[in-house]
Amino acid sequence: MSVLEFNNSNNVHYSWLQRFAGNIIRYGCTSRLQHIAIVMDGNRRFARDLKLERARGHTLGADKLFDVCQWCHDLGIKELSVYAFSLENLKRSQDEIDTLMNIARLKLNEIVKSLDKIHEQQICIRVIGNLDLLPDDIQQSSYRLMKETDHYKNFVLNVCLYYTSRNEITSIIKNLAQACEKDLIHIDDIDDDLIIESLIVSTSQTGHLPDIFLRTSGELRLSDFMLLQCRFSMWIFADVYWPAFSVWHLYWVILQFEMKSKTLTDIQKQCKNILQQGKTTDEKRNERIHTYLNWLEQQRIERLKL
Ligand code: IPE
Ligand code: IPE
Ligand code: MG
Repeated sequence: MSVLEFNNSNNVHYSWLQRFAGNIIRYGCTSRLQHIAIVMDGNRRFARDLKLERARGHTLGADKLFDVCQWCHDLGIKELSVYAFSLENLKRSQDEIDTLMNIARLKLNEIVKSLDKIHEQQICIRVIGNLDLLPDDIQQSSYRLMKETDHYKNFVLNVCLYYTSRNEITSIIKNLAQACEKDLIHIDDIDDDLIIESLIVSTSQTGHLPDIFLRTSGELRLSDFMLLQCRFSMWIFADVYWPAFSVWHLYWVILQFEMKSKTLTDIQKQCKNILQQGKTTDEKRNERIHTYLNWLEQQRIERLKL
């Protein structure tokens, strides 16, 4: 099994029992689990319970992300989307925001330094959210990572920073309005599928929407994370703070999914059929949609060149 090396401190070890259970899950599960979305919640409560500094809880939370990437990769999962900082988190104290941004800066810089390894392993790293609001240097390292790794599909990590679904939907509406203004599409071309396709351009590199929406810390909230992408995902709420999340928790999450995946696939298929009923195959419309999606993708790529 190849080791995912995002940085030099990445060091995942399995006990023989964990490896054994992992192999059973990887080769024994029938579901085709491709993409997990995670709200990494509970860093401060974890620190408080262990009488650690709040910043230490956030650092341990960031370290955990690299372990989880390795575990997911070893289980054959292709894409991971994580909520690292929401636009609502800007309401926290300036001191805490600075701490979180310093951790993000440190981790992104470590990854940039390991770019050779990232290329070797063909890992795609994307930072998703309202990136204009990020501190300049974090913006630069994010764009650099995206520019260099955009085409890889061996493993995809989407880090959502300064993100909320509301904000993402707002930018989709703006893009659609602009496309209408430029006459790339007509207002009647906009339908449910086009909204979702616009999302896919920005949030899924492998083309798979999240199969599982997972939130740690025991809170039963979505907190505005990938609401449209996760509309057919299985929602799983784990009663463990993020820094304490272990490979056993991940196995438990996957088994939950495996038990229900047949029902989920059936529901997804039914919904697709309903949406497709009554759709006309209008060649001209399809052409316009194609041009619009290319324009959207081009805009994304242009931003990476800046
Ligand atoms: C999640 O942990 C990390 C971020 C939101 C950045 P929290 O900081 O929300 O920790 P809790 O949920 O208050 O314990
Ligand atoms: C959600 O956690 C955001 C992230 C994990 C980045 P929060 O702790 O900020 O969410 P609420 O405020 O409890 O809903
Ligand atoms: Mg929280």
